[in-house]
Amino acid sequence: MSKRIFITGINGQDGAYLSEYMLKLGHEVHGIIRRNSVGENQSGRINYLKDKLCLYYGDMTDSCSLENALAKSKPDYVFHLAAQSHVRVSFDIPEYTMDVNGNGTLRLLEICKRICPEAHIYNAATSEIFGLSIDVDNYQRESTPMNPVSPYGISKAMAYNAIRHYRRAYKMFAANGILFNHESPKRSSAFISQKIVRGAINIDRGVSDKLELGNLDSYRDWGHAKDYVRAMWLIANHIEPMDFVIASGESHSVRDMCKLVFEYLGLNYEDYVVQNPKFIRPEELPNLKGDATKAKTILGWQPIYTFETLLYEMIEHSIKNN
Ligand code: NAP
Ligand code: GDD
Repeated sequence: MSKRIFITGINGQDGAYLSEYMLKLGHEVHGIIRRNSVGENQSGRINYLKDKLCLYYGDMTDSCSLENALAKSKPDYVFHLAAQSHVRVSFDIPEYTMDVNGNGTLRLLEICKRICPEAHIYNAATSEIFGLSIDVDNYQRESTPMNPVSPYGISKAMAYNAIRHYRRAYKMFAANGILFNHESPKRSSAFISQKIVRGAINIDRGVSDKLELGNLDSYRDWGHAKDYVRAMWLIANHIEPMDFVIASGESHSVRDMCKLVFEYLGLNYEDYVVQNPKFIRPEELPNLKGDATKAKTILGWQPIYTFETLLYEMIEHSIKNN
C-alpha cells in the first residue's frame, strides 16, 4: 500500500537517493527545501524527480515552516536527514550547527508529537558521535560510548539522545540509523571522496597540477549511499524502534583513497597531492570502523558496493558528466 513519506534534507545526497527509492516502491514523497538565491540550487539534486515530489519551503531553524509542511503532508514516515553535515565547517559555525542539528531535531520531534504521533521517525545519526571511543577489537558499534570531537558530533549526539528520549517518554516510533561515511556520484566535492575524484580527473586532463588536502592519515569506513538508504527503510519498518549501526566494516585511510583513485587514472598520487594546513581540523577523529552485525542479523541488511566499486563508479560518473 502506498505510504506518505516526509523527508527533511530531501535535496541532499541521501535525500535524493531515498526519494528515488521511495517513488520506486510506489510511495508518495513530500519534503522541505530551503530558499536559495540561485533558484536552480534549491532542488539541484532532485530536479530529475521534481514532477513526482510535493515540496515545501522549510528550515530546521523555523518551527512554523516545519509545522506547516507536516500538517500538509500528514506523513506515515518521517525521514529526518537535514543537517549542517560538514564536520570541518562545524568548527567555523558551531552555534548554527548546534541549532540546526540539535535543536532542529527537537523541534521536529515536538511537532511530530502533536501532528503525527503515529508516524515512524528515522533520524540520521552518525559515527561522529563515537569520536575518540573505540572498542577493544577496534570497531564501533551500538554499545560504544560517545566521545564526540567536533561541534557536528556533539550536535548529532544531542539529536541521537532526543530521539531515544521521545521513544521512551512518549512511546513514539523514533529510531536512529548510526551511519558511517557514505559517498556516491551525488556527493558534494566539499567531502574527501568527491574532492579526490574530481581533483585527480582535473590533473589527468591537465586542468590543474596539484591537489591540496588536509590529514591523509585518518581512517574512515566508507560505503555507498544507495546501500545505506535501503538500510534507512528497513530501520523505519522494523517491528519496534531501535538504533542500528550501518557500516561496511572496512577501514581505509585518506591516503589509500588517493592511491586507488590516482592509480585508476594511471597516475601516482605522490606526484600531485600536497598538504595544506587550511584543511586540517582543530580536533581530528583518527579512526572509524563500524560493526553492522546487529543490522545484518536483525534487519537482513547487506551492502552491495565495496570501497573499490564505490570509487570506480564515482570516477566513471565524473568523467562522463563533468
Ligand atoms: P548533505 O548532502 O549535506 O544534505 C544535507 C541536507 O540538509 C541538504 O539537503 C541541505 O539543504 C539540508 N539542510 C541543511 N541545513 C538545513 C536547514 N537549516 N534546514 C533545512 N534543511 C537543511 O548530507 P547527506 O550526506 O545527504 O547526509 C544526510 C544526513 O545524514 C545528514 O543529517 C548527515 O549529517 C547524516 N550523515 C551523513 C553521512 C554521510 O557520510 N553522508 C554519515 C552519517 C550521517 P540544501 O540542499 O539546501 O543544502
Ligand atoms: N572534506 C575534506 N577535505 N576532508 C579532508 C581533506 C579535505 O581537503 N583532507 C583530508 N580530509 C580528511 C578529514 O580530515 C577526515 O579525516 C576525512 O578526510 C573525511 O572527511 P570528510 O569527507 O569531510 O567526512 P567526515 O568523516 O568528516 O564526515 C562525513 O562522515 C560523517 C560520518 O562519519 C560527513 O558525511 C558527516 O556528515 C558524517 O556524519
